[in-house]
Amino acid sequence: MTLENIKLDIDYVRSQFPAFKDPLSKDWSFFENAGGSYVPKNVIDKLTEFMIKTKVQPYAEYPMSKIAGENMDRATELFAKMINAKNNEILIGGSTSINLYVLSNALKGHLVKGDEVIVTNQDHEANISPWRRLKKNGVNIIEWKFNLNDHELKISDLEKLISSKTKIIAVTHCSNIVGSVNNLKKISKLAHKKNIIVIGDGVSYAPHGFPDVKDLGVDFYTFSLYKTYGPHLALLYGKEEILKNLPNQNHEFLDGQHPYTINPGGPNHEELVSLIGIYEYFENLYNHHFKNTNLSTLEKIKKINNLISNHEEIIANPILKYLDKREDLNLIGKKKIENKNRAPTISFYSNNKSSKEISKTLNKYKIATRNDNFYAWRCLKYLGIDTNDGVVRLSMTHYNNLSDTENVLTALEKV
Ligand SMILES: Cc1ncc(COP(=O)(O)O)c(C=O)c1O
Repeated sequence: MTLENIKLDIDYVRSQFPAFKDPLSKDWSFFENAGGSYVPKNVIDKLTEFMIKTKVQPYAEYPMSKIAGENMDRATELFAKMINAKNNEILIGGSTSINLYVLSNALKGHLVKGDEVIVTNQDHEANISPWRRLKKNGVNIIEWKFNLNDHELKISDLEKLISSKTKIIAVTHCSNIVGSVNNLKKISKLAHKKNIIVIGDGVSYAPHGFPDVKDLGVDFYTFSLYKTYGPHLALLYGKEEILKNLPNQNHEFLDGQHPYTINPGGPNHEELVSLIGIYEYFENLYNHHFKNTNLSTLEKIKKINNLISNHEEIIANPILKYLDKREDLNLIGKKKIENKNRAPTISFYSNNKSSKEISKTLNKYKIATRNDNFYAWRCLKYLGIDTNDGVVRLSMTHYNNLSDTENVLTALEKV
């Protein structure tokens, strides 16, 4: 069997997630993954184990405490390996919104009156509001708008917005509404010619394949771990050379102990340790599909990413095709996933029915979804969509299967 022929063993995948066996959720097709994913049993086991055995203050010499501390460090180290970062380039916070707020607060000392920050109108508000707030410090905010014909952010438009005063570009790797993948590598290259810092929001990208942050070249990158099969935490990657020059936002006496002093407090210990379960799940997934055990964690992740994106194309493309054909429904973003150019995060709205009505109908057919603006309200506003009613979003991930696809197509016929 050649590598290209290896397909994701979806039954194996689903057997790892207890939610697919639980009486409450087992009969539902879950289409709300962009809001938060189910967790594999490894994560639940790690969390339970921590609570039973090591739920004490970490980093003392007695065994329960020592093991707690070791596991907290291990979780960070494993995630650093998975995304190609150094251990001291990873910060764990409560959410992406919190991480980006903390980061903007830390970076503001590096900006002077008249400096410019570029934000988009395609992003989730988490990567817009913290930067827009810097206006109070005399910073000018420049908006990079997406194209209304195809809903894409054009790099040629960005080029026109960059000036000698631009200091930061905050841009999503993948919009949680449009679904398209933005070329952060190209954006970073362009920005770095002018010493501009790039902040990438990977929340809607990472669930479909962990990124190689060094390859992307971004200065900061963040994603929500509760959408990448973990507990309610979020990861912030930052380049060491920038992180070490950021101010201490923690206790005064901790000065100089970067990068942990950017966060005003520490992470949730038990949830941090449960992240080891995400690593274990991906390691198991790799071992289930591939024979070569000599690869690095990063190389294994890249192989799994390919398996996942091939599977996601198969399950999501029929839905995109169907929605594109329906004259009464408006599909947002690309009409087909090809070569990972789009996430299986599919948003649409109707010409004659409210999004709420549609999502309620879908719920009747056991399609777990909802209508909302999903906090990308600038994106919806620009598209002329009522931000209260929002869009209906069908967001899939690698554990969705073709039955889910069939179920949603059948339910959409009833809409
Ligand atoms: C693209 C995107 N960015 C940022 C966020 C904010 O993440 P959090 O809920 O961790 O603050 C979300 C949440 O839905 C999102 O979809």
